[in-house]
Amino acid sequence: MPTKIDQLAGDLSGREVIVCISGGIAAYKTCEVVSRLVQRGAGVTVAMTASAQRFVGEVTFEALSGRRVVTDLWSKVADSDIQHISLNEKAALLVVAPATANIIGKLACGIADDVVTTLAISAASTVLLAPAMNPQMWSNPIVQENLATLKSRGFASVGPGEGWLACRSVGTGRMAEPSEIVEKAISLIC
Ligand SMILES: Cc1cc2nc3c(=O)[nH]c(=O)nc-3n(C[C@H](O)[C@H](O)[C@H](O)COP(=O)(O)O)c2cc1C
Repeated sequence: MPTKIDQLAGDLSGREVIVCISGGIAAYKTCEVVSRLVQRGAGVTVAMTASAQRFVGEVTFEALSGRRVVTDLWSKVADSDIQHISLNEKAALLVVAPATANIIGKLACGIADDVVTTLAISAASTVLLAPAMNPQMWSNPIVQENLATLKSRGFASVGPGEGWLACRSVGTGRMAEPSEIVEKAISLIC
């Protein structure tokens, strides 16, 4: 049970958050991120890349968020709404967790060729990236330069941390823990 102080400090009632998921093993940890945001009162809309849907089914995120998951750039929220614009108009924050090397690279180059990159590039709010990848990918100067470019453009980031990785090794590249991502989100929204 959250304490009263937790509730006061992290009350997200009435706030809209877009949680974008790209194709990494850590996508399973984003279930808890969505759940924790919802428990704090946020309205959460989840968007997934095609790769992300191979790791966790959209039904899981639909159940956790209580909303339809956005997987198609061409769907409409309402008859006259362009989906990515109307979602971004309401959002206090857009989180990308996990953020793959691919998504980081695409965003750094201004590529918007799917629903996640289009949402992130058209975001009116701060974009929070939670990178997750194996240590070789993470230490690649291309990835580091792309992330530095995004940070210089106002993107926020959390993690990655060190620890056990899905590639059965220990190193840097593990996605920040859900509690850490949520705390960072709260600090950016409140
Ligand atoms: C089993 C498996 C695990 C993967 N884990 C990661 C990962 O943790 N981080 C990452 O950047 N890419 C990872 N990839 C590679 C991405 O899925 C791949 O680059 C994909 O094109 C990303 O697409 P997206 O960024 O549009 O979701 C993984 C691929 C596979 C098959």
